Amino acid sequence: MTRIFSGIKPSGHLTLGNYLGALRQWVQADQHRADALFCVVDLHALTVDHDPARVRRLSRQTASLFLAAGLDPELCTLFVQSHVHEHTRLSYLLECTATDGEMRRMIQYKEKAARERAGGGSVRLSLLTYPVLMAADILAYGADEVPVGDDQAQHVELTRDLAERFNQRYGATFVVPRAVLPSVAARVMDLQDPTSKMGKSHAETSGIVYLLDEADVVRKKIMRAVTDSGSEVAYDPEAQPGVANLLEILAGCTGRKPLDLAAEYSTRGSGYGALKKDTAEAVVELLRPIRERHAQLCADPGQVDDVLRAGAERARGLARPTVDAAYRAIGLLPPV
Ligand code: AMP
Ligand code: TRP
Repeated sequence: MTRIFSGIKPSGHLTLGNYLGALRQWVQADQHRADALFCVVDLHALTVDHDPARVRRLSRQTASLFLAAGLDPELCTLFVQSHVHEHTRLSYLLECTATDGEMRRMIQYKEKAARERAGGGSVRLSLLTYPVLMAADILAYGADEVPVGDDQAQHVELTRDLAERFNQRYGATFVVPRAVLPSVAARVMDLQDPTSKMGKSHAETSGIVYLLDEADVVRKKIMRAVTDSGSEVAYDPEAQPGVANLLEILAGCTGRKPLDLAAEYSTRGSGYGALKKDTAEAVVELLRPIRERHAQLCADPGQVDDVLRAGAERARGLARPTVDAAYRAIGLLPPV
């Protein structure tokens, strides 16, 4: 059976980008068709300046949102990364497989490190090594597929390189995984700045729809989305990034294609107004059940704990043999 692994880091409140780019596939397809593991990758939230209490709170909230969005612990395994030590155990071996040049070439590292330095801050070493830990997350479970948004494709490519290199040097140990990107909304853009990704840790929040935003807040953010000059609805991400983003979001909510939607709005000649209004309502309806289930889960935190406890136990059992095999293969003496 196909094995799937993916994760979200608790570095902010989950956004519509997280849902359309990742969670939606996990819920609607992956958990039904494969042996799927979904992880709150909390260690990844420590790579930039962080508040310990907030990370703890967001870890719990992210796990609750996994369930609220429709992940079913009867069908898939849900757990927290730091509860399973195999991730960090394997990460070190992969640090001994990767090169520093390879790490410094990662786009996300370059962007985030530049941002930290521009703000007068220093760059944590873990920001550089982060993709190696991500590779360990994936390889420890022998995952075949990694469903992620577009921004993570380069990290999965690195994971493939590391798996192949390790296998070649030390003998067949890891499954070489592949990234699976959604066909629409693989990169949901910020509503106020449609040339940059809708990211959960951005400071300016007016262009970001959070999964837990109230309906009126969602409407306001989408109605105020930056659109492009002109009023003709067309799907052209280069020339009309704002409108293309709305079309992607509406397509992601409805299962339609952005090009088909564009043709319809263009024929109606109703300008951007109708597109915004329909997109706002589609997102409100998409998020309504998630918010309601999340509120129920908050009233019963024991339920989330039970799921995470059972998930970590299963994950440990799956990861340990692979990580032990990697320790032996690389030349470490087994414990005597
Ligand atoms: P992160 O928020 O960086 O932990 O990302 C968790 C998952 O959500 C990854 O698979 C990302 O690729 C995906 N993701 C995050 N932001 C977006 C976005 N704006 N559009 C599409 N996918 C996204
Ligand atoms: N790096 C990913 C992100 O920022 C999160 C992540 C960590 C992940 N480990 C993973 C995603 C393993 C997929 C598989 O979005």
